[in-house]
Amino acid sequence: MAFGPIMRFAVERDDEALTIELAPLTKEAMAEFIDAKHGGGMQRFTVGRYMGRSGAPVLEDEHEWYERVRQEKDSLIWGIWVITDEGRLLIGNSAIVDIGQEGHSGFIRQATTGSMIFNKEYWGKGIASAAHKARTWFAFQHLGLHRLKSAVIQANGGSRKALERSGYQLVYTERNEQYSGGQLEHMDCLECLNPLDLFWSQWWHGDRPSRATQAARRRTKEAMAWAEQFVELL
Ligand SMILES: CC(C)(COP(=O)(O)OP(=O)(O)OC[C@H]1O[C@@H](n2cnc3c(N)ncnc32)[C@H](O)[C@@H]1OP(=O)(O)O)[C@@H](O)C(=O)NCCC(=O)NCCS
Repeated sequence: MAFGPIMRFAVERDDEALTIELAPLTKEAMAEFIDAKHGGGMQRFTVGRYMGRSGAPVLEDEHEWYERVRQEKDSLIWGIWVITDEGRLLIGNSAIVDIGQEGHSGFIRQATTGSMIFNKEYWGKGIASAAHKARTWFAFQHLGLHRLKSAVIQANGGSRKALERSGYQLVYTERNEQYSGGQLEHMDCLECLNPLDLFWSQWWHGDRPSRATQAARRRTKEAMAWAEQFVELL
């Protein structure tokens, strides 16, 4: 079981209101990932460039990926769907992977997150920011994870901004992680810590978090408060 349960919320910007669902992918909808109607999606260089991709997947690749992740035991993956009166349109995905696999104490539970909106018509509408808040809330409130990790190529300012809104913060930078557009790009490795007292005290157990970390905790709390109020977990 690799897919996460349905979470529904609204995203509003510039007089436009969208109903978004994070919900399981379907095999039939995997064609959307590369659909020419939506500009080719993952086949566009500008969609995959900061995810270390330089090739273009075809439908068989998408179906193979779907079958592989569907069987993963340590992942929760959601499609990002736009819901309208006419139906549902898949525009991206969001994931928590390697759940519980990192950290050797056996006590602290961590995971890695990632996200992508392959349909560029939907970029810049606040969808990733809201989806990250919902995912963060689910990971901390419902899965009881201590820490989420993510990594962002520095030039990917939109991704970084959306993650920071849920309280992700820089841990360290991997230099020269990727070569793209004629230059070497560095990658920022981020973390988001569970701000709830039980998990926070287990993570810090007497050590003193920095001011930046305390500020990040406040952002995560705000993101979770938003989700508590506005995300419908069906
Ligand atoms: C990264 C991605 C998920 C962002 O999704 P999104 O829904 O467009 O993000 P949001 O609209 O919630 O927020 C992005 C914010 O960053 C801003 N932004 C965009 N490009 C930026 C840049 N280069 N530098 C700084 N900020 C930038 C946007 O204006 C927006 O801010 P605003 O809400 O104040 O206007 C989407 O662009 C995407 O899927 N890209 C391709 C795949 C990818 O890179 N995935 C992430 C890998 S780490």
